[in-house]
Amino acid sequence: MESNVPKRKEPAKSLRIKVISMGNAEVGKSCIIKRYCEKRFVSKYLATIGIDYGVTKVQVRDREIKVNIFDMAGHPFFFEVRNEFYKDTQGVILVYDVGQKDSFDALDSWLAEMKQELGPHGNMDNIVFVVCANKIDCSKHRCIDESEGRLWAESKGFLYFETSAQTGEGINEMFQTFYLSIVDLCENGGKRPTASSSASFTKEQADTIRRIRNSKDSWEMLGVRPGASREEVNKAYRKLAVLLHPDKCVAPGSEDAFKAVVNARTALLKNIK
Ligand code: GTP
Ligand code: MG
Repeated sequence: MESNVPKRKEPAKSLRIKVISMGNAEVGKSCIIKRYCEKRFVSKYLATIGIDYGVTKVQVRDREIKVNIFDMAGHPFFFEVRNEFYKDTQGVILVYDVGQKDSFDALDSWLAEMKQELGPHGNMDNIVFVVCANKIDCSKHRCIDESEGRLWAESKGFLYFETSAQTGEGINEMFQTFYLSIVDLCENGGKRPTASSSASFTKEQADTIRRIRNSKDSWEMLGVRPGASREEVNKAYRKLAVLLHPDKCVAPGSEDAFKAVVNARTALLKNIK
């Protein structure tokens, strides 16, 4: 006989995860973690020596998550110490300082270091990465704008947040989304959507926006040789306009890139007979 007593819902199993921080020295990795875990900020720079380890508990939906945080030293001197901590990681907090271009340019080498340490059988597709564009409170010194950082992160299928460990801006939202994504990943059998299926723009669009940003002059921006004919300029323009038109392209920075291409074409056509 069937009972009318409603079945008691089983409590969801607790989960244990490992999270690491990565990024150049002095970008604010330890301060971001401290801001979230201890709700405070220390303005004096105390370099992490090798690795700092901490445990914290968080609640995500109906699950209790035990988080083991390994806060890495960013200085190259500590490579030997941190290299053994990459394995068995579910989440990476990848940090750069928005006022230090070097720290942004170094993100690729941090990924390369992790990949190398995980070895040929290591799989980075089942790890959640969150990119923190940190120190946004120092707006005067900012040299990497939001669209550039977001483009880099989202074209890799990574989360992106603007943060300030000093004011606390973006920190809670970043950790909440990060932990939620890790739990989703664990419940999804350890599979993260691949970059190509999660990004809503193509690699060609991302690469083109980056190329336009880094162009020295209008010729380079349109991808034609200096002294090219009107036809060549117009042809190159049409190709870029189709790729980057704001109605078709949602990649971060596409609107500015599109405007830059329109201006470059106008400037070149003025001077070509
Ligand atoms: P390593 O441990 O050497 O790899 O550095 P780290 O990335 O852990 O940097 P840390 O958190 O120690 O911060 C470095 C310096 O930047 C310290 O002087 C912090 O006070 C400062 N800092 C960190 N986050 C912020 C921020 O959001 N805004 C401002 N203005 N300063 C910050
Ligand atoms: Mg540190």
